Amino acid sequence: MREIQSEVCFLDSLQHFFIMDQLNREGFNSRFGLIAAAAGSAIGLGNVWRFPYVAGENGGGAFLLIYLGFVMAIGVPVMLSELIIGRKSQRNIFGAFHVLAPGKPWYLIGLMGVVAAFMILSFYAVVAGWTIEYLYLAISNSLAGKSSLELNQVFFDSTSGTFRPILMMVLFMFMSAFIVKSGVSKGIEKYSKMLMPLLLFIIVLLGIRSITLDGAMEGLVFLFKPDFSRITTKVVLEALGQSFFSLSLGMGVMATYGSYIKKGESLGRTAIYVSLADTMIAILAGVAIFPAVFAFGIEPASGPGLVFVTLPGIFNQMFGGYIFALFFFTLLVIAALTSSISLLEVIVAYFSEELKMKRPIATWWAAGSITILALFCANYSTLFSFFDKTSSNVLLPLGGLLIVVFAGWFMGRKSVRNELEADGKMARYFRFFVIVIKFIAPIAIAAVFLNQLGLLGWVKL
Ligand code: TRP
Repeated sequence: MREIQSEVCFLDSLQHFFIMDQLNREGFNSRFGLIAAAAGSAIGLGNVWRFPYVAGENGGGAFLLIYLGFVMAIGVPVMLSELIIGRKSQRNIFGAFHVLAPGKPWYLIGLMGVVAAFMILSFYAVVAGWTIEYLYLAISNSLAGKSSLELNQVFFDSTSGTFRPILMMVLFMFMSAFIVKSGVSKGIEKYSKMLMPLLLFIIVLLGIRSITLDGAMEGLVFLFKPDFSRITTKVVLEALGQSFFSLSLGMGVMATYGSYIKKGESLGRTAIYVSLADTMIAILAGVAIFPAVFAFGIEPASGPGLVFVTLPGIFNQMFGGYIFALFFFTLLVIAALTSSISLLEVIVAYFSEELKMKRPIATWWAAGSITILALFCANYSTLFSFFDKTSSNVLLPLGGLLIVVFAGWFMGRKSVRNELEADGKMARYFRFFVIVIKFIAPIAIAAVFLNQLGLLGWVKL
């Protein structure tokens, strides 16, 4: 008995030592800075590019409704669990599980997260490259006066060449690496703070112009009126995948950012603000895009090119369209940047803390190897869609499932509560939160998976 006790004591002090060892880590400097960084991670191409095209492919209103349900019932609790794991362990996603559950295989979640970061970033960088290309097209006024058909051709030409898409992707990876190399507060925090509010402003303006187009109503009906007959197993899974992708969940981004949050900050409030901001921008992007889709006679299910064909069409019909196009694509590049740096940070934190690399070296290694992987995703290849769909629809929900199970069943009520109340305020939602992470969220994710495999019969194809 005594032996066991001393062993526990030893493990405790070991854990303490690890935590102390990490206390001089860098972190976010201000509340606004940390929310901007986390919201900057969540808000990105997932909102403006992926949400509209996935919603378009999956029937609009019904998809949106299921998506919103998932954000509330699963997204927010997974995000909060990640923040708790990160801040408590003060580590990268791999090391976090070593600290919190020494000698247990939970660190495999962290490993899966690092793999997912590689996969996501390598197609994300390609799409981000397209946004840089479009910024160039906007500057050179090459999008003006074009019909939807012509804009379709422009999208095809600018994404299927060999040289330019790769050049733009490399340029984008270089910019991401540059920011991450500069560190957490001087890189990530600083850039996120000014740019997110600007994006909001532009997207609201675009939405207003779009809903005042002739024939806009049909788009709003498509987006907001659920047609329940369109719900299939695939729609449910895609909605789950999109909610994880958009909120940056399931692979350790929020845990890594959580490890940079000071003890005095409320994690609950952070999770709510970030999820609200992200959802608002996705809906606004939908409001900007779908009315235009119908007004211009574009097919809503036309896939990843949707935004790139629709928005230039709106600019063409706007007073000052040239300036707006310029502004918009600048901001889209920036939104992509504040997201990609969060993905890169997961890998860099892992390389530098676990493999003991210096931060700049870790950054160049991570960015370099992703760039090579991304070469195979450029030209919009099969690998592109494989990475896109597998990461969102499989790896992220699976990671999220394991993360809530870890926080709900293995971390202990007390340590979870301590983390939630570290700002000195009582977490009144605590009991409810525990029920959600122990039962509701894991069962919901598992049900979607099982249903996809055809093992549950509730939604028929
Ligand atoms: N959420 C970001 C977007 O909407 C993309 C992103 C950043 C992401 N970090 C992530 C997606 C982690 C999944 C996991 O564009």
